[in-house]
Amino acid sequence: MKHWRIDEVPWNQFERSKTAPDAIAIVKAAAMVERNGIDYAIYLKNVFHDDPAFRQAADNWSVEEVQHGMALGRWAMLADPEWDFEAAFTRYKNGFKLPLDADTSVRGSRTGELIARCMVETGTSSYYTALAEATEEPVLQFVCRLIAADEFRHFKLFYDHMRRYLARENISFFQRLRIAAGRITESEDDELAYAFHCGNEPEGLVYEHRRCISAYMGRAMGVYRYRHIERGMGMVLKSVGLKPRGRLSDVMTRLAWRLLQRRRRKFVEKLVPGTQLAEAA
Ligand SMILES: [Fe+2]
Ligand SMILES: [Fe+2]
Repeated sequence: MKHWRIDEVPWNQFERSKTAPDAIAIVKAAAMVERNGIDYAIYLKNVFHDDPAFRQAADNWSVEEVQHGMALGRWAMLADPEWDFEAAFTRYKNGFKLPLDADTSVRGSRTGELIARCMVETGTSSYYTALAEATEEPVLQFVCRLIAADEFRHFKLFYDHMRRYLARENISFFQRLRIAAGRITESEDDELAYAFHCGNEPEGLVYEHRRCISAYMGRAMGVYRYRHIERGMGMVLKSVGLKPRGRLSDVMTRLAWRLLQRRRRKFVEKLVPGTQLAEAA
């Protein structure tokens, strides 16, 4: 069951003067990745083919993810009435394919699959929390808060199932760490970059990963503040079986924050040579 409905969003409170072009661009990309959640459910249900409880949970989860995409897409169409969400999403679907015929996890185990899902939900919950706080547009704030609450619930869902499978599969701490770190770095692969391309670039322009991931990340990484990375790091550590708070978490958060700033600077440099970075708090 969904926790909210799209028509609960106060769409009539939309304030055009408070929209920023960078926010519109990243929302268009995110709308497509979220809406593609239905395909992830197909993949997850193949991997967990003999686990009816998880298969049901995956179905419910994907309904929520698709709703995130529809809400973000609707906001982007309000902000940019020329934008055609359907056409952009069709383009994305035709060009970005998930391994829908896999019957085992691409992570090597079910525990691994669920750790990867925990990383994704850590990322999305932090991102929408940060985006809600970064934008001044009230409808986008509202939508992002609703989505962030779902993403925190999704984290808990996958975390609980992961613990269940870990007791059975017993994969080592280092394997879990490797999968978690691997999934975090994958955020710079094609999924978001290609979504940025389909959502923001003209059809005639050939997709190029470097250009598109810089365009997406250069903007998206700018919405984070230290507190968002701190909370996300706690969730990452918890997923691999470490304490979410304490000295390790403090040190890791500082490192991650520095790394994020460095990555962002690199992306922004590629985006527009000589672009000045907004001061990060
Ligand atoms: Fe989502
Ligand atoms: Fe989610």
